[in-house]
Amino acid sequence: MKLKKIQEIDLTGKRILLRCDYNVSVDEKGKVKDLYKIQVSKKTVDYIMSFSGVKLCILTHLGRPKGKKDNAFKVAQMKDEIETTLQRSIRMACDCIGVCVSGALEEVKEGEVILLENVRFHKEEKEGDTHFASQLAAPFDIYVGDAFGVSHRKHASVAAITQHIPSYAGLVNQAEVEALTKIKADVKHPAVAVIGGSKIETKIPLISMFEKDYDHILVGGRTSVEAIDAKMTFSQKVVLPKDFTGKERFDIGEKTTKKFVETIKKAQTIVWNGPLGKFEEAPYDKSTLAVADAIANNREAYSVVGGGESVQAVTESGHFGDISFVSTGGGAMLAFLSGDKMPGLTALEE
Ligand code: 3PG
Repeated sequence: MKLKKIQEIDLTGKRILLRCDYNVSVDEKGKVKDLYKIQVSKKTVDYIMSFSGVKLCILTHLGRPKGKKDNAFKVAQMKDEIETTLQRSIRMACDCIGVCVSGALEEVKEGEVILLENVRFHKEEKEGDTHFASQLAAPFDIYVGDAFGVSHRKHASVAAITQHIPSYAGLVNQAEVEALTKIKADVKHPAVAVIGGSKIETKIPLISMFEKDYDHILVGGRTSVEAIDAKMTFSQKVVLPKDFTGKERFDIGEKTTKKFVETIKKAQTIVWNGPLGKFEEAPYDKSTLAVADAIANNREAYSVVGGGESVQAVTESGHFGDISFVSTGGGAMLAFLSGDKMPGLTALEE
């Protein structure tokens, strides 16, 4: 996949719409629980803002407000934290189309970045509506697609918009495609995939993909419980848990965790998506934290971790910096690796 890169054009004096994925968990006080998606976008924001005279608007979705203006999903509640994380003054716009945007673009001061309100307050976003996409594009010269986490969706602001305005991939999308392509095409052996989370039906294409080139596919979490209960059979490469913690099987057991950790220790390539137990509830976080430790401590391997809870586990165990690449995608990472259509990326191809 060859993306059109923002580095290919001169951004001086341009009005730019940057589509990010700031879909994060926010508590009642507007505190963002995991800043990673916002932190990684800083490199694209800084790159764009290094050109003189640019006017930059950031667009994101937050949650699933079902096309209605819902205060719980207002992007405005994150303004202060985004300001601190990006280390830039933010001017909040009251909507993502119309006069709210044109007004903010008129008033914006040098060095300020405009943050647009939740694009999913418009039902046309999820419908991939072309007219809505043209309204989003209207005030701008250039669109920069950088919302990897939502690039598996055919939404107006990630796909249809590229029909209306010159469009390029930002630095987040470029890095994601590079890292995820590497773990598919440039596999060093032994190669190990660790798959957790829930919904086995969504993981089958992924397991099949890894069965081709990887040596061990370690399956845990609800996914493994579902596979065992459904009496599913896989090739010998696929390792399902032999024991669980507690009657409810909320975590894989000690013996299985030990086996997973030993396998990870010897790996040269490691990919991990999804928690191996009910990570949010101690003591069912044990195997997930042990796997996070093992991946981080294997400095020989090229390691890629994605999915909200896996990233949280790596962060909590203090090992964030020891992972070769941390993906911002949960579902998007799975879709990319499974070979599914990625409308938000194909729209940015050369
Ligand atoms: C994510 O958090 O995985 C992305 O932002 C996509 O969100 P969605 O599943 O609500 O489309």
